[in-house]
Amino acid sequence: MGLISAEVIETVRLRSDIVEVVSRYVQLKKKGKYFTGLCPFHQERTPSFTVTPDKQIFHCFGCNTGGNVFRFLMLKENLTFVEAISLLAQQAGIAIPSNGSPAEREKEHKRNRLRQINSLAMDYFFYMCQHHDAAAGARKYLADRGLSREILERFKVGYALPNWDSLLLFLKEKGYQAQEVAEVGLAIKTENGKYYDRFRQRVILPVWDATGRVVGFGGRVLDHSLPKYINTPETLLFSKGHLLYGLHLARGAIREKGFVIIMEGYMDVITAHRFGITNAVASLGTSLTREQGRLLMNYNRNIVIAYDADAAGVAATMRSLDLLQELGCLVRVVNIPDGKDPDEFLQKQGYQPWENLIDQSPSLIEYKLQQAVSKKQVRTVSDKLEIMQQVFPSLSAINSEVEVEENLKVMAGLLNLSPEAIAGEFKRHKANAGKKWTNSDNIVKTKHNTLSNIKKPDAREKAEAGLLRLIIEDPSLIETVIAKLGPEPFSSSNYHKLFQQVQKIFNKPDYQLAGLFNYLGDDEQTLLSYLLTLEIPGENREQMSEYVECISRCNRQERRTMLLQEISKAEKSGSHWHDLWNEYILLRGIAEAERLGDRERTAVLLQEYQQLIKIDTWKHPREGSDGS
Ligand code: UTP
Ligand code: MN
Repeated sequence: MGLISAEVIETVRLRSDIVEVVSRYVQLKKKGKYFTGLCPFHQERTPSFTVTPDKQIFHCFGCNTGGNVFRFLMLKENLTFVEAISLLAQQAGIAIPSNGSPAEREKEHKRNRLRQINSLAMDYFFYMCQHHDAAAGARKYLADRGLSREILERFKVGYALPNWDSLLLFLKEKGYQAQEVAEVGLAIKTENGKYYDRFRQRVILPVWDATGRVVGFGGRVLDHSLPKYINTPETLLFSKGHLLYGLHLARGAIREKGFVIIMEGYMDVITAHRFGITNAVASLGTSLTREQGRLLMNYNRNIVIAYDADAAGVAATMRSLDLLQELGCLVRVVNIPDGKDPDEFLQKQGYQPWENLIDQSPSLIEYKLQQAVSKKQVRTVSDKLEIMQQVFPSLSAINSEVEVEENLKVMAGLLNLSPEAIAGEFKRHKANAGKKWTNSDNIVKTKHNTLSNIKKPDAREKAEAGLLRLIIEDPSLIETVIAKLGPEPFSSSNYHKLFQQVQKIFNKPDYQLAGLFNYLGDDEQTLLSYLLTLEIPGENREQMSEYVECISRCNRQERRTMLLQEISKAEKSGSHWHDLWNEYILLRGIAEAERLGDRERTAVLLQEYQQLIKIDTWKHPREGSDGS
């Protein structure tokens, strides 16, 4: 947590009113216990953003973001946790004592030095590129690629001299150790303890974080030698999968234009800027990571993917599509003709053809269809069915019926079928997907798909949400819950994580609902704020047993399905299956008694079942795990 103690963090939080802080950005209206307004994290016309003063939290039902006052500022101003605290502390007139442990202070000191090194190196490379004789070739190279002085300045494009140690010497003169230079990734240590510059004879492209601090570099050769680019390795400051190149320059334009374009490479983004397309960022390499997707979601959920049109780019596009859809983004894909990348396309065709490409860019589903159709000749009915099966899962994830219908029409056109025929197939697909929920062999996998794609809250999900909410408000319930449901009461992994966090910290003397946020990662914060905004009827304990019962009923049902599979497996392999069968019969009896509303018999059988099997000897399959 850096330098600031938990106590100070709580003080700052308690002294900062979330309504006041949010009001600086959002026009809030009071509605009973809540305030509502237009969400600052996604585009909307009717308010789905709420602030709850008595819990000191915010939550948006549109984009499903939420948290406490720190999280709000982190997202809104793009701050780190520590920065958000410092800002609020300053405003509340609270001095943050810099009394972290010596180890923490040491680490912070080191980070600062590493930042200074990066910043000095960026200036050094830039200066050399502009002025050094040995950089004449680099200057010509950049000019040939069409980069003006103004663009070079904006992206601080530099040059690393061919010598083995020019940067090292420069930084040593400024008072930095070779070892520090290596730590930030700018130097490499040999086996016999000598250091040399990592980047030599390359054009240098600094990489910034979203707040505009330089955290690493990429270096490109001037010719066709390999590797084309080398990059800063993972360091204390640089984590490639968490960054988007150009984001700090694109933030304003993303807001204005209402969407963001993701490209593959450095040069794509730089050229885009040259043509006035400033809402572009690069994922630096082919595959977009989940973290990069989340980072984008902080700014906008309308995303256009403009990856290279080669095979690698198409494969990366397909992977990114699913990831972005899962995160809740609205995705379109640019088809760049003739195997080009955005850089080349813009240079050859110019601004207007590019804008046309964007305007005509197909939606996620259209793109998937086009890909599926282009891969093989579609002749037979079974070809068509196969393609439908590839695209239906994405279609199922769409909530808007109008959108689904539009897409079905497009499919009909591409597959040369009537929209009605396709709609019929789609209906059947959805029915089957629903059935697989309980009957499939591969129950874990289906369950995962169903949860992440369709998002229809079933009884179990509702009960789990309610139960977790009660536990959060009154962690003393944990004991009873574990006694009834075993140590892992929740089937979805983020619920389980949040549950574990609550268990970990509820014994602390300062356990406080909104304070809980300070201990949680982004996903859990979102989940927590969602849970806290749920309306839960009834009195705690009573409500709790209802949820618990519902969950155990679901567990038993899952167990029954699993038992049937195990029994048939055991029969085939000739191993012992009578115990499994007895358990199955008992479970079926319980279900039957429940169905008939025979409470007495249910209770008796349940007790019998408890004796037969200890609740924690089996586990229900957990989302995202292999269920073993
Ligand atoms: P590209 O090969 O498409 O590079 O790789 P580019 O950006 O179009 O560069 P130019 O136009 O040939 O100069 C896309 C991105 O993948 C990463 C870089 O971030 C690059 O921008 N990459 C590529 C590497 O890190 N190393 C490599 O060797 C190649
Ligand atoms: Mn490229």
